[in-house]
Amino acid sequence: MCGIVGYIGKADAPTVLINGLRRLEYRGYDSAGLAVLDDERVVVSKAPGKVAALNERARSEWPAERFSRASLGIAHTRWATHGPPTEVNAHPHLDHSGEVALVHNGIIENYRALRARLEGKGHHFYSETDTEVLAHLIGECDKGNLFQAVCDALHQVEGTFGIAVLSAREPGRIITARRGSPIVIGVGDGETIIASDASAILAHTQRVIYLDDNDIAIVTADSVDIRDLNNIPVTREIAELGLDESAAEKGGYDHFMLKEIHEQPECLANAIRGRLDFNIGSSVLAGMGTSPRELAELGRVVLVGCGTSLHAGLVGEYAFEDLADLHSEVQQAAEFRYRNPILGSRDLVVAISQSGETADTLAAVREAKQKGAFVMSLCNVVGSTIARETGRGVYLHAGPEISVASTKAFTCQVAVLLMMALKLGRGRRFSREEGIRFAQEINSIPMLVERVIRQDAHIAGVAASYVANEHAFFIGRGPMYPVALEGALKLKEISYIHAEGYHAAELKHGPIALLTEGTPVIAIACDIPGKDKTLGNIEECKARGARILGLVTEGDHEAAECMDDFISIPRCHPLVATIPAVVALQLFSYHVARLRGCEIDQPRNLAKSVTVE
Ligand code: M6R
Repeated sequence: MCGIVGYIGKADAPTVLINGLRRLEYRGYDSAGLAVLDDERVVVSKAPGKVAALNERARSEWPAERFSRASLGIAHTRWATHGPPTEVNAHPHLDHSGEVALVHNGIIENYRALRARLEGKGHHFYSETDTEVLAHLIGECDKGNLFQAVCDALHQVEGTFGIAVLSAREPGRIITARRGSPIVIGVGDGETIIASDASAILAHTQRVIYLDDNDIAIVTADSVDIRDLNNIPVTREIAELGLDESAAEKGGYDHFMLKEIHEQPECLANAIRGRLDFNIGSSVLAGMGTSPRELAELGRVVLVGCGTSLHAGLVGEYAFEDLADLHSEVQQAAEFRYRNPILGSRDLVVAISQSGETADTLAAVREAKQKGAFVMSLCNVVGSTIARETGRGVYLHAGPEISVASTKAFTCQVAVLLMMALKLGRGRRFSREEGIRFAQEINSIPMLVERVIRQDAHIAGVAASYVANEHAFFIGRGPMYPVALEGALKLKEISYIHAEGYHAAELKHGPIALLTEGTPVIAIACDIPGKDKTLGNIEECKARGARILGLVTEGDHEAAECMDDFISIPRCHPLVATIPAVVALQLFSYHVARLRGCEIDQPRNLAKSVTVE
């Protein structure tokens, strides 16, 4: 969603800001803007569309000296919420005097009331945004101390914010604050960079400070002074990012998505490394922070997440039931706190989130904690809000996922869930030998995925036959049902083909009415329990003219012969097979979208991390 960059230091601020925004492009946005202090005046440049358009606009509107002179500024990529993605709605927004500039992520929920009050005092608003109201409110509160003005304004707002503010009246500092929307401060050598996401900081420093909710910081080129909104100083540690700048580059691939699909054997090896113990036939997940007794006393596992992370949870549900004999269920994070979930101290709530910033998942974490459940997270982004608020959990170690369409995070989520289920299973029903056998299955995942990736050229060839369709159905059974949901999500989000995932048996309860000559049905028909029934469902589709692309187990000629096209999945445990199967569908979706000429890494309307409800 929206992205923030702020800079203060010795380099030329406009260039640093635009480069920072480029690093945030993957998050999804539809307009961009920046404000710098030049000659003690706030100057702003904005453009609808891409950061490249903003760069062109600023370079044509501003004198060249401004680029070398300005050493302080703030910038933003906006994902439209209040008002369309026009120039006037783009951030930064100015206050009444034109001397205070603000960039903002999040939503000010009471902006209408605040706007009416300010209009009553003579304020005039140019945009439809909630952010402009906050800019005016800060200006209204400013009686000669910008920090205090921001505190006073933030006390009056309801909703979420990550903000950066500068003022011509106080050159040499930026004020930044957060509530529900992340802010990271990079502490460089004579320069400080503020961002909503560490990827905009990587080029400058590895040393960062994560703000907590209701923190507000006064940032200069050499100092970061953090307080709460009542002006009480708070201490936040400096953390090391430990990320390589090249992780945010395409590395020779045409798209981040393709790079991330191909990286999966390595990411999965990183997610698994050191976490399997073949002596005891279990997994070692220290971050869970649970004693064997606590694990033994668990009565239920509740998995919460959104989108792809929700689908990973659905695979986890099968794993906890199958391997650990543990009642397990998945709940949509967006519903969780509105349905009064019944939770207690014997319930383990696992929040699954690549970004660790998804607003609904974070709200579910808070609700589960409130209700006394045992809460942990599976996050990819180290130091993210969900990871910090749960305090325990397992990092995915997938490395930065830049493409909006999640790929490597999903497979690492499933791998970690399988390791969690193994750990719980060993405490309940698995013998040591069974544990060892399943640990070996998990250990083989990177190699299994590698074997699917080697079929990339074949999958690209298959994809060519499905490019012209506007509808597609994905079907599967058992743990392959969530894989069908994820396959459909991947295809629709990047190729804009209308795709639906169904349990194979559900098709004939309604959706089969939509099958006509040539409608693609992508059937996950691997050799797992229920395969014969899935083959029966495939025949039902064929009888109505559907074109079948099957995922079949290597060497299963009987299944392969039922299909118009097929992709082979290596033979392995049914739960483990979900991972190579999904990788095949990721590649299929990628190639269909590429052949349709879609903007794969930043699909229309989508944001990488959804930080509003
Ligand atoms: O960062 P999260 O895992 O919490 O994100 C959840 C969803 O927004 C995300 O998985 C989304 O569905 C992706 N676009 C899927 O590719």
